[in-house]
Amino acid sequence: MNIIIAGATGDIGKAITISISQHLPEAKLLLLYRDQEKKALLSKQLSPSNTQFLCIQHPFQNKDIIFNTFLKFQPQIFICAIGDGFYAKVENVDLEELDKSYEANFKIPFFLAQLAYKIFLPQKKGHIIFINSISALEGFPYGSLYCPFKFALKGAAEVMAKEGKRYGLKVSSIYPGIVKTKLLDKMPFVPKKGLLNPEDVAQAVLYLLKLSPYAEVKDLLLKNNNLAWR
Ligand SMILES: NC(=O)c1ccc[n+]([C@@H]2O[C@H](COP(=O)([O-])OP(=O)(O)OC[C@H]3O[C@@H](n4cnc5c(N)ncnc54)[C@H](OP(=O)(O)O)[C@@H]3O)[C@@H](O)[C@H]2O)c1
Repeated sequence: MNIIIAGATGDIGKAITISISQHLPEAKLLLLYRDQEKKALLSKQLSPSNTQFLCIQHPFQNKDIIFNTFLKFQPQIFICAIGDGFYAKVENVDLEELDKSYEANFKIPFFLAQLAYKIFLPQKKGHIIFINSISALEGFPYGSLYCPFKFALKGAAEVMAKEGKRYGLKVSSIYPGIVKTKLLDKMPFVPKKGLLNPEDVAQAVLYLLKLSPYAEVKDLLLKNNNLAWR
């Protein structure tokens, strides 16, 4: 199984990467990252024989390099755990921040998934898994900069699933509630307890990967049970 993981150096991406390397040791991983230091730390926890890294610092300028690396890797699975937290009340939304959130939460995830999709189409096999958010299903206070792009990614996933189905492609989205990661540092308010761990999301990914080829899960909602807000 050849698996590309985008956002592998993020907290959820890292948990997914480590969980796959432990539970599916035969899997080959192509890990996409931006930050050299985070990459170095992650690589220490992985077997070098099954792992390769690709820097996606300037993804649009380096489209050909990224696509050719994907092509050579011959992936069957693409997992995207890229995203960033931007929060403001409606009346305070700044348009530059809106553009940055669009890029991190929609444009880059869509762009990278599209490159994988282009490889999956002719090989008539492939599974795209988006780590989306409960914010794709419901608007939240302070969510004007974040929720719209998560909703948009859900829309793109649905289109990919419907267009790709006749070519044997699967597209799944996981919608976690609030997960204990560094993204929470940016949130205006955080529940005191009841947070999910990145490993909970990793377990959901593993569940999808272990299903039979005849089974399909389009949407997996991973809610916080019993949230208490500060
Ligand atoms: N934490 C939560 O409560 C929560 C809940 C539901 C959904 N999610 C979603 O889960 C995903 C992972 O988030 P996380 O909580 O693990 O946060 P995180 O630790 O900050 O990870 C975010 C990942 O996205 C990458 N990234 C951010 N902006 C990027 C950009 N412009 N270009 C390329 N890569 C970029 C980061 O790269 P670097 O490693 O280089 O920084 C990192 O790998 C996100 O889509 C997030 O929206 C999070």
